[in-house]
Amino acid sequence: MKKVLVLGATSAIAQATVRLLAARGASLYLVGRNAENLDAVAKDAATRGAAKVESKAVDLNDFAVHEALVDGAFQALGGLDGVVLAHGVLGDQAEAQRSWTATEAVLRTNFLSAASLLTVLANRFEAQKAGTLVVISSVAGDRGRQSNYVYGTSKGALTVFLQGLRNRLAKSNVAVVTVKPGFVDTPMTAHLPKNKLFASPEKVARGLLSAADARKNEVYVPSIWAIIMLIIKSIPESVFKKLKL
Ligand SMILES: NC(=O)c1ccc[n+]([C@@H]2O[C@H](COP(=O)([O-])OP(=O)(O)OC[C@H]3O[C@@H](n4cnc5c(N)ncnc54)[C@H](OP(=O)(O)O)[C@@H]3O)[C@@H](O)[C@H]2O)c1
Repeated sequence: MKKVLVLGATSAIAQATVRLLAARGASLYLVGRNAENLDAVAKDAATRGAAKVESKAVDLNDFAVHEALVDGAFQALGGLDGVVLAHGVLGDQAEAQRSWTATEAVLRTNFLSAASLLTVLANRFEAQKAGTLVVISSVAGDRGRQSNYVYGTSKGALTVFLQGLRNRLAKSNVAVVTVKPGFVDTPMTAHLPKNKLFASPEKVARGLLSAADARKNEVYVPSIWAIIMLIIKSIPESVFKKLKL
């Protein structure tokens, strides 16, 4: 990926990815909603060797601007051959159970805004018959659990959307890479007690980029999560519903 649009560029995982892409000399179009943080990420990328860095502060829940946003990125970099979609919110499961508004907010950011952006991007990449779409989903989307099923639903829906998109775009030489991290030590999980399963954003960024380079389909990052989720998914529902997960 040499000309890359990064959506949610202020996320900790995206920032680590941007640092790696910049060191490779990529051209970057960075999108985030906090203009000050975004500016800092853009300046840092420029000092690390990015060929070109442009940025745009946008709330990605504003679906009406998605088409123009993608147009702007294509124009600014003279085309795109890669996208990293990283924005997301964890939400509060207890609050989501009390309030549809809270549930909708999680689904809107993690699934609907991603689906809207990917609809625009998929058509552009399909037409040019080239490119790599890298999207951060989550292991949480593999199975619904009482402790975070609203977030899990948003990521599960995203994973299924990406499966269909991959199936559609394979004949157009467009790779759709689903990245499923486990626990990552970022601001999103700052409130959680840490354990050995937590990975650093840098480790996840390395896994993300090597999956993108290899045009993989779905990857668990770190890879131990492939085994953990295989076990979790294989527990019968009759047993699973009695567990406190
Ligand atoms: N951390 C984990 O354990 C973990 C595990 C699996 C998957 N993931 C996924 O990894 C991705 C990156 O998360 P992270 O861990 O790096 O957390 P993070 O540092 O909290 O990043 C989340 C980013 O999403 C941005 N964002 C949220 N809503 C947005 C909107 N409407 N428009 C634009 N930007 C928006 C946030 O911007 P603001 O700073 O402006 O709020 C923030 O930069 C997310 O999709 C997350 O679901 C994380």
